[in-house]
Amino acid sequence: NKKAFIFDLDGVIVDTAKYHYLAWQKIANELNIEFTLEHNELLKGVSRVRSLDIILELGKVEAAQEDKDRWLVQKNEDYLSYLVDMDESEILPGVFTILKFLKENKQPIALGSASKNARPILEKTGLLPYFDAIVDGNDVSNAKPDPEVFLIAAKLLNTKPEDAIVFEDSVAGVQAANIGNMTSVGIGEAAILHEAKYIFEDFTEIDTNFIKELINN
Ligand code: G6P
Ligand code: MG
Repeated sequence: NKKAFIFDLDGVIVDTAKYHYLAWQKIANELNIEFTLEHNELLKGVSRVRSLDIILELGKVEAAQEDKDRWLVQKNEDYLSYLVDMDESEILPGVFTILKFLKENKQPIALGSASKNARPILEKTGLLPYFDAIVDGNDVSNAKPDPEVFLIAAKLLNTKPEDAIVFEDSVAGVQAANIGNMTSVGIGEAAILHEAKYIFEDFTEIDTNFIKELINN
């Protein structure tokens, strides 16, 4: 069967999860809300709007919509300021090798991200030509763990969900892949991503034989 390889963006392809964290931490600090790295796991894969709500819930803060709108703008401006000088050096270790291998083997590749900043990031890092389809925060109405983003990606690649392989660094994203009946590959800590079918610390741990098996399965 024809396979589809779907990649999350932040924390999988590029090292931007840390910038999201820094930008949210500033907002949390201003509001005197404790926001730790552990709390941050809850935000991975989650939309900007929902992320702010989670932070406010953590601090038991109720806020007016106009304040929320202001913080959302502030967060994104701050986040984008970290990306101004972004180039291919921000591509996470091992990612390029796998993308190249998939391309050489004529495998369909898609992006499945909650981010509304996905396209400029792929452009800046030079990875745009590797993607046959891009599904991002501008295309979906249901956030991960809803599988919508990955289902759209599989469809655009003319592949059945069961033949799609999803690379994810977030719990919500692994769950989305599982709920969508896809093969989930967790990238990160096994203790956090234990629901994934396969788990690797990063892409340098994935060898091309593993990818070959996924292609031929
Ligand atoms: C990804 C990240 C989240 C981020 C979301 C929205 O899923 O893991 O941390 O909040 O995208 O990103 P955006 O760039 O639109 O704020
Ligand atoms: Mg991610």
